[in-house]
Amino acid sequence: MTPLIFDFPHPSILGTHVRTEIGGDEGKVSVLPFPDGESFLRVESSVEGREVIINATLFNPNNWFLDLLFLADTLKAQGANRVGLLAPYLAYMRQDKVFHPGEALTSKTFADLISTYFDYLITVDPHLHRYHSLGEIYSIPTTIVQAAPLLSQWVQSHVKNPFLIGPDGESAQWVAEVAKTFPFIVLNKVRNKDGHVAITWPTINNINGKTPVFVDDIISSGGTMLQAVEQLKSFTDTPPICIAIHPIFAGNSYQELQKADVQNIVSCNSIPHPSNQIDLTPILVAALKQLYI
Ligand code: R5P
Repeated sequence: MTPLIFDFPHPSILGTHVRTEIGGDEGKVSVLPFPDGESFLRVESSVEGREVIINATLFNPNNWFLDLLFLADTLKAQGANRVGLLAPYLAYMRQDKVFHPGEALTSKTFADLISTYFDYLITVDPHLHRYHSLGEIYSIPTTIVQAAPLLSQWVQSHVKNPFLIGPDGESAQWVAEVAKTFPFIVLNKVRNKDGHVAITWPTINNINGKTPVFVDDIISSGGTMLQAVEQLKSFTDTPPICIAIHPIFAGNSYQELQKADVQNIVSCNSIPHPSNQIDLTPILVAALKQLYI
């Protein structure tokens, strides 16, 4: 039977593309607020015995996460065969340790909630730092889809003479994968207690004539990228291209980066943003088809 795909809490370009590629039916649900702020939720599609996928990028989820759990639970109650979560961006991965006494380990609580209401999770390059796999906190089957091949294709088809730069040690694992045959370096970053970052550069040879391309998994406050772009100016006059998989761009960091003399800011559409130029549809659809539908 054709899978049923909900795009939650709002329709998105990525959700529409995935549904079209899979040939799925559009799941319909209405969510209305009660006067006291609670949610009324009604599934309007027939779900009995069906494979159901909810595409919900978990960026800024606090206002609607409870509704997402209500939806998943209701779909199960109405007889859905399986309810999978397609979360191109997976939130609450950065509080992966109790850094100071009394802090909440939100990554674990969040994972417990998702594991309770969903049958599986597919996501794109989650922020795995102190955890080595999602299985350390998620108790349902999880699949990590890697955006590196799409980033690499974008660089190969859009950039002449690229020189790739990973802004911190964590990026080392996949900058090489994006760079393929092109040269790359990885910077060293230390984040101070106040949240500011200090970046140091390795020795680099003359990069004149090359196009610097920063590649990071997330641009969040923008602090890392802004500082790296500023420091690059002592090595080359060529404005860089900045690529991120997940474009959070808190506050006015996107505008600040635009003003910082960069030639292009590029991101994947895991989070809808004006910088989206790389469509994740092919890798998400491939994972769904290979594993679940
Ligand atoms: C490092 O931990 C990540 O790879 C990113 O570099 C980091 O999350 C970016 O954060 P921000 O934009 O706040 O500096």
